Amino acid sequence: MESPTHSADKKIKVGIIGGTGYTGGELLRLLTNHPNVTIEAVTSRKSAGVRIDTIHKHLKGFYNQAFETPDLGAIAKRCDIVFTAVPHGAAMNDVPQLLKDTLVKVVDLSADYRLPASVFEKTYALKHTDPRDVVYGLVELHPEAASETLVANPGCYPTGSNLAAAPLAAKGLIDHAIFDSKSGVSGAGIKPSDVSHYPNLAQNIEAYKLTTHRHAAEIRQELGRLQGDIGSISFTPHVIPAIRGILTTAHIFTKEKMDTDAVQAIYTEFYAPHPFVRVIDSIPMLGGVRGTNFCDIFVEVDESSNRIVVVSAIDNLVKGASGQAIQNMNLMFNLPQTTGLWTPAVNP
Ligand SMILES: NC(=O)c1ccc[n+]([C@@H]2O[C@H](COP(=O)([O-])OP(=O)(O)OC[C@H]3O[C@@H](n4cnc5c(N)ncnc54)[C@H](OP(=O)(O)O)[C@@H]3O)[C@@H](O)[C@H]2O)c1
Repeated sequence: MESPTHSADKKIKVGIIGGTGYTGGELLRLLTNHPNVTIEAVTSRKSAGVRIDTIHKHLKGFYNQAFETPDLGAIAKRCDIVFTAVPHGAAMNDVPQLLKDTLVKVVDLSADYRLPASVFEKTYALKHTDPRDVVYGLVELHPEAASETLVANPGCYPTGSNLAAAPLAAKGLIDHAIFDSKSGVSGAGIKPSDVSHYPNLAQNIEAYKLTTHRHAAEIRQELGRLQGDIGSISFTPHVIPAIRGILTTAHIFTKEKMDTDAVQAIYTEFYAPHPFVRVIDSIPMLGGVRGTNFCDIFVEVDESSNRIVVVSAIDNLVKGASGQAIQNMNLMFNLPQTTGLWTPAVNP
């Protein structure tokens, strides 16, 4: 069994399971800029043998290898870290095979390990076949993830919502909170659907799962960890005619009326050690974070009530998925968390 400990001159061998999807493609795109990794294996069940840049045409010239069949035991032995970028329900089958008899590390991008098994089963109406305690890899809230073998990469909506409310929850100030999120359509993955069909999506906005979206469980879990007595957490998502990005407007009702300067100071101080969260002085836009691992946050106090409005913006495929997964990998291999991820947004 080879040790995954790394010297600076030894490249980290990366495997990606589910490499034909959006988050798999985004891992591959982002990792072209990472100085410490080499892509060892990228799998696909239906496109094994096909060159990566045949499916991911935007990666032409960057990878000349082909997708391979997911022979998980063999891939785990060849790699130092494997990203599982597959649907929920599939990862819980893959992860135990990857971890068996190897020292490989795994970052799972699915929902399978983000919640305790009992909560997962209730939320996803699916039996969990691999229950275990796994750290929730929202880096800004869980530095302990760095020393783990398996990390559960957070959901996209919960990343934007939890980062919007965490500083107030950490101080025990929240009475209750309402999260209203708008997502680009890549959040639903690569498979076309009625929602993503152009005439249905263009010039349109659709609210969905008004009170029952599964990601609410992750928001309740993480804010509840920070503030045990937190009141109700409400979450409603929308799909908007954008490809990437999640804009969340959080209405946070505090126990007592607060003033703007005090609230801004809480956010600035909380995120000072965290390079990917920018507390900015204007209302964030998706365009400010597109293609990046940043979460932009703006805070305004409603002087007439106990309401604080916090707006956060992330790219669902980067901070909401593959970028955050690489941020986790960096910390798991003792690299600066910004390695390979320090890039400004694509604009316009
Ligand atoms: N899209 C986002 O913004 C986002 C954000 C955060 C988290 N996530 C999570 O990340 C995971 C991947 O998301 P995605 O958007 O990349 O999905 P996707 O575009 O649908 O791609 C998933 C890939 O996994 C493979 N796959 C499909 N079903 C599988 C199965 N039953 N067993 C093994 N492999 C299977 C497929 O590749 P082959 O058929 O070629 O094998 C597919 O290309 C999901 O769990 C998703 O919830 C997504």
